[in-house]
Amino acid sequence: MVATRITVNGKETPISPAAPHTTVLDFLRDRGLTGTKEGCAEGECGACSVLVARPGVDKPTDWVAVNACLVPVAALDGQEIVTSEGLATAGAPGSPPTLHPVQQEMAVRGGSQCGYCTPGFICSMAAEYYRPDRGADAADSTDAEHGPNGFDLHALSGNLCRCTGYRPIRDAAFAVGTPTDGDPLARRREQHPPAPATTDHAQGDSVFLRRKTLAETVRLLREQPDAVVLAGSTDWGVEVNIRSRRADRVVAVDRLPELRELRIDPDRIEIGAALTLTEIERRLDGGVPLLAELFPQFASRLIRNGATLGGNLGTGSPIGDSPPALLALEASVVLTDADGEREVPLAEYFTGYRRSVRRPGELIRAVRIPLPLAPVAAFHKIAKRRFDDISSVAVAFALDIQDGIVRKARIGLGGVAATPIRALATEATLEGEPWVAETVDAAARELRGEGTPMSDHRASSLYRSAMLGQSLRKLYARTTEAVSS
Ligand SMILES: Cc1cc2nc3c(=O)[nH]c(=O)nc-3n(C[C@H](O)[C@H](O)[C@H](O)COP(=O)(O)OP(=O)(O)OC[C@H]3O[C@@H](n4cnc5c(N)ncnc54)[C@H](O)[C@@H]3O)c2cc1C
Ligand code: FES
Ligand code: FES
Repeated sequence: MVATRITVNGKETPISPAAPHTTVLDFLRDRGLTGTKEGCAEGECGACSVLVARPGVDKPTDWVAVNACLVPVAALDGQEIVTSEGLATAGAPGSPPTLHPVQQEMAVRGGSQCGYCTPGFICSMAAEYYRPDRGADAADSTDAEHGPNGFDLHALSGNLCRCTGYRPIRDAAFAVGTPTDGDPLARRREQHPPAPATTDHAQGDSVFLRRKTLAETVRLLREQPDAVVLAGSTDWGVEVNIRSRRADRVVAVDRLPELRELRIDPDRIEIGAALTLTEIERRLDGGVPLLAELFPQFASRLIRNGATLGGNLGTGSPIGDSPPALLALEASVVLTDADGEREVPLAEYFTGYRRSVRRPGELIRAVRIPLPLAPVAAFHKIAKRRFDDISSVAVAFALDIQDGIVRKARIGLGGVAATPIRALATEATLEGEPWVAETVDAAARELRGEGTPMSDHRASSLYRSAMLGQSLRKLYARTTEAVSS
């Protein structure tokens, strides 16, 4: 068995004796790297943000910020990370280190008071600093969320500060320049990140396993069908930290090449289940408008840097955001195990609360979206906060309206039943009818009655129903505005 190790700030460090469930956050702090902070331990505050070298979209490597509190350190066996301590460069003997440009801007612009959140902000900001296409974005329009330097403030949407106020932090973000030629982390982007290792990281009765190929992984899952499959760990990490869940066997699938392809064919788009939402967002680049509306509303950039579509469908949650959108897009799920592959329409995938047709030992390999796409698409997420919140209700529309007639309507709903559902009665009310206020009113009344919404701490059942109807009216208002403008 090869010893597990991780490169932290350029220094190779053994992972043992960390347990298979030990998070990167605890691992770092146990080794004295206490710049990385614990605020919430559930992915909500970003105080634990660190940089990971990942396969890049525009360059061989991207520096990606992730929540260290959610990721087991064993998942980064053989990988490279940088913490806030690793960003500054050592000065001459006896003199202080030279601050990294993002640290410098945060310091001089008053972006830090108690400092608890600061290392996390610094790491998220550094990831955006090194984003290869940031310079290109600088030429695009500047607004409240995008700086003249191309800095996208959404890079910080997963970071909370309780004392400074966000303006000085934004000032710092909008003031950072571009990396110099000698910048070691900028240069590092030109080489590939470390390949995933074969990992057998055991302690006591529990073990973290990673295999290099899909064939080896499904064989392993055939032998151990009760193993927990792990991708980005943004759901599982919360289970471990907050609900103290432990697994005897964890099998990582997030770096399997067979689960990380994105193919656009004439009749369909196939998205690998282990691509992160950030990777999908950047690679599709608006090519699926419904998903382009969904992504910015899904959690925060930090979470999207880890979260995968496979994980979102794997939880079977009735309030996951991707299922309503994928239902409206008439997507199907490609399931695979040691016996081979099968394709299941997403509409037939969920069988009950957090249950699906997926068998023990079976993996989601990919999601397929048929082409062409419906021309009118929208994703409405009704939540208590605009960003980084779980949906009370989510509604996805994909409508084909030609010559003023609704030829086809597909509507996916989340948060109104034990599973994500299609709004079949509403779709039937719309199809074949003119896209006019009377049709929309009748369909909105129908939509209010879809599903069996519950009352809970997020919203009452009445509110959820009301929001469904309003959602269709909002879509109508938007399409008619577009026509009259
Ligand atoms: C702060 C925070 C905010 C969040 N906000 C949102 C939000 O706005 N919208 C939303 O929908 N969700 C949200 N989530 C939930 C979570 O981020 C998503 O469900 C995410 O898509 C999970 O993906 P993952 O790769 O991290 O899954 P993991 O945590 O790795 O796995 C989740 C489950 O899926 C299974 N699984 C993973 N990959 C596969 C596969 N390929 N085949 C079979 N099973 C698999 C795992 O076994 C596990 O049961 C949030 C979570 C946090 C912590
Ligand atoms: S500690 Fe709050 S996001 Fe990790
Ligand atoms: S400076 Fe205190 S939490 Fe941000």
